[in-house]
Amino acid sequence: MATTGQERIIQPRVSDIRKILDEQSNGASSLLAVLEDIQHQYRFLPRDALIMVSERIPVPLSQVYSVATFYNAFSLKPRGRHCFQVCTGTACHVRGATQVITRLETLLGIETGETSDDLEYTLETVNCLGACALGPIVVTDQGYDGMMTISKVDKMVRRVHSLGSENADAGKPAQVDAAATDAVPPA
Ligand code: FES
Repeated sequence: MATTGQERIIQPRVSDIRKILDEQSNGASSLLAVLEDIQHQYRFLPRDALIMVSERIPVPLSQVYSVATFYNAFSLKPRGRHCFQVCTGTACHVRGATQVITRLETLLGIETGETSDDLEYTLETVNCLGACALGPIVVTDQGYDGMMTISKVDKMVRRVHSLGSENADAGKPAQVDAAATDAVPPA
């Protein structure tokens, strides 16, 4: 699996992963808790961290990946500080989800499924959220926005962007210089 530029920026520190493992690792039953902590710290699950988890717990790496890919809360790719999730269920689709996606792609400068280079924004689609009457729906870190129109999308992005400017460092994932001495070496 190739390492992306964003993954190179967010190199996990051996010491950070060890700390999580020291606090949470307690056999195979602790796998979920360990992955949750790593996801929380990096906003994704770095491959090298998963290898450390597999060796330490210990469970086969295939089992670690199986859990990591089963739950939507986990991501194997770096994610932005702000995530926009557009529902593409049937009702939202009929009510204009495609136009909402197109507008978000334009405003954020990324395609669906991508994260911006500065790790600020991720744009994703999700299946029916069970609130079809409010479609089309977009979920952000601030909650649900329903009955979305192009102008509402514009306002939502401005709101999220201004929030980001106010808390520029607050939600940054753990990032280290790739040359840091205890960065996990690429496998
Ligand atoms: S289709 Fe979007 S909430 Fe049901």
